Amino acid sequence: MIEVTPVNPGFVAEVAGLDLRQPLSGEDAQALRDALEQYAVLVLPGQPLTEDQQLAVARLFGPLETSVGASVYNAERPRRLGHAELSDISNLDEAGGILGATDIRRLINLSNQLWHTDSSFKRTPASVSLLSAQEIPPVGGATEFADMRAAWDALDARMQARLEPLIATHDYFHSRGLTGFDVGAVPPAWRERQPPARQVLVRTNEKTGRRSLYLASHICAIDGMSSAQCSALVDELMDFATQPRFVYRHRWRTDDLVLWDNRCTMHRGAGFDEKYRRSMRRATVQDAGPTVAD
Ligand code: OGA
Ligand code: MN
Repeated sequence: MIEVTPVNPGFVAEVAGLDLRQPLSGEDAQALRDALEQYAVLVLPGQPLTEDQQLAVARLFGPLETSVGASVYNAERPRRLGHAELSDISNLDEAGGILGATDIRRLINLSNQLWHTDSSFKRTPASVSLLSAQEIPPVGGATEFADMRAAWDALDARMQARLEPLIATHDYFHSRGLTGFDVGAVPPAWRERQPPARQVLVRTNEKTGRRSLYLASHICAIDGMSSAQCSALVDELMDFATQPRFVYRHRWRTDDLVLWDNRCTMHRGAGFDEKYRRSMRRATVQDAGPTVAD
């Protein structure tokens, strides 16, 4: 039987009583989906999953995405992971050695250290992400999560009314540029495979009616605003929404599985000394469809 222990009232819970290596009963699967709906981030310690087992858990939430690594920037060379549906969240190469400081895979993954939500740069963005930890540095490398429902609720009514109609453009390469990647040198083929996408700035959970800010460091433009106005607003909202009162910091242990709802949270990785190995993999579920009809 699934046991759900809240870390905060309404945001983040630890889940025990499941062995995710085995197929879940329909009842347990529903309880897991309900807990994620309520808490937005779920921590499941002690789940040593194979790639296939992780994918099977992810499919309880819907159809899976293909990782940007497998489909865009690393499509032409061998990958460390066996499935295109798994994103490689590690500092390791395909042979399991630590990536060099200038390896493109390392530079691309650095943007995970900026506040973001997964795949908002895709026309149909991500709903749920499931990150499984195999190897963890002895210090550093935590992941922080911010509750975008609580952040929305805390905004004053004037700001809420101003934000409600806004449409933002999210670009995968924009956030890469913010962490020093030479965006001017991105091959045109990559841009064609991963064009920017427009998204609402305020999302509504259709079941609960709860609203949330839909923010990410991928945002490069907002309809009707100059670039300076856009970055001023995004910076202001980022600062507001990531105040400590909205944030949970997860210190990883080997075999943790952490699930989050990208529609109502942001997250970012903390830095760590890259002489240490950090090995994680992420399965990502597709949302029901685009947030903007166009
Ligand atoms: C991710 C991600 C942050 C981290 O897996 O989507 O952003 O701490 N990870 O590695
Ligand atoms: Mn991410």
